[in-house]
Amino acid sequence: MSQNERDSFQSRIGLLLATVGSAVGLGNIWRFPYTLGANGGAAFLLIYIFCTLLLALPVMVAEFYIGRHSKRNAVGSFRALVPGTAWKGVGFIGVFAAFFILGFYYVVSGWTLEYVFQSFTSSFSNKSVEAFHSEFTAFSTTVWKPVFWTVVFIGITHAVVSVGVKNGIERAAKFLMPLLFTILIILCIRSVTLPGAMAGLEFLFRPDFSKITSSVLISAMGQAFFSLSVGMGCMITYSSYFKDKVNLQRTALEVTLIDTFLAVLAGIMIIPAVFSFGIAPTEGPKLVFITLPNVFGMMPLSNVWSAIFFVLLAVAALTSTISLHEVATAYLHEEHKVSRKRATWLVSGGVGVMAIISSLSFGVLKEMTLFGLTFFDVLDYTTTKLMLPFGGMLICLFVGWRIDKKILKAELTNKGTVPFYFFTSYCFLIRYIAPLGIVLIFLNELGLLKFLK
Ligand code: PHE
Repeated sequence: MSQNERDSFQSRIGLLLATVGSAVGLGNIWRFPYTLGANGGAAFLLIYIFCTLLLALPVMVAEFYIGRHSKRNAVGSFRALVPGTAWKGVGFIGVFAAFFILGFYYVVSGWTLEYVFQSFTSSFSNKSVEAFHSEFTAFSTTVWKPVFWTVVFIGITHAVVSVGVKNGIERAAKFLMPLLFTILIILCIRSVTLPGAMAGLEFLFRPDFSKITSSVLISAMGQAFFSLSVGMGCMITYSSYFKDKVNLQRTALEVTLIDTFLAVLAGIMIIPAVFSFGIAPTEGPKLVFITLPNVFGMMPLSNVWSAIFFVLLAVAALTSTISLHEVATAYLHEEHKVSRKRATWLVSGGVGVMAIISSLSFGVLKEMTLFGLTFFDVLDYTTTKLMLPFGGMLICLFVGWRIDKKILKAELTNKGTVPFYFFTSYCFLIRYIAPLGIVLIFLNELGLLKFLK
């Protein structure tokens, strides 16, 4: 496909929402609250915010540069910018990461559909906390139901990606994201006014620095990369569809602020309720699914609220799975001369197999483990905690050391038409601070340089 045949985002708001749509998803609403719960609360939040601003945001700007300057996919962009070098390996890591993330992300996306279904078929009021817990466990450990919903979700993503960027992604994101935001606010209000919610707010906002361990550091860093969709070429792929007049710095900042704000909102929605209902904050991936039904149960028209919420959560997940799918599809289509349709099928099929195994790893395949982690956990751990930060580090090194500063500045300022006041600081960040920060957290996690217990 020649460059001018490539789709591009049409309006500024559509582009912003599509990019926000990639960033905002299960990462904010499902993964953030349980990761925070398992890592001691407020201290995690603080480190997460540091990682977002100092590590992940600079990577996003760097990816925007790579994508829009080259107008290519995650691998093709490196091929175009530095032909014949090993840098394209960064893109390959990204394509693999997209596959692996989809391998577990689809499963949780499928769970959201089950809860949409339950909103229409069962009752949320007058049920005990234990009942919700055991129902979720029963559901997630059976064979057919979760696999069925996972496959349905793969089908929906497949359909949207087949239609293409402009028609599919932009249109869907445009009106559903603001709706999600509204319902989050309503649920936050319900949550913080529950009896005993104060303890949750304290857990969330009063840091206890003695709780910062190695695991907190790497979890916060991984969460920051995952939540902003950076370190794996997703933002390279999306920004390759940006028009030349898009302000890259501003878009990156806006996406980061919205994404972080929504994660904190999700925290306020979940954590006080967790404390109010006496649920352990360390429950892990099931936390949101066993907590929220209790909250709905305390609201009038509980089923209506839960239906709206889970539909919107499914949509938020969808705008993220689309972006992940797009990384792999654009790569296959543009680099291997596979038709777009064929590429879409290859990705859906390949990822589908992984997602089914992931889903089964909660039940029948529970014993199939690696270092004590199930298949689902292995995919989550290797992508969020290893591949994304590692990819992010390489992207910083690439843009910081390999790219001519004049060319970088010209792209990030739209040829001098928008100012970039902190350009020198930005260069310092991606050359030294971000790569070093990531390496130190890795070394600490590996136990090679222990500065925390
Ligand atoms: N950022 C998305 C979320 O928070 C997940 C994602 C990761 C999407 C990486 C694309 C790339 O749910």
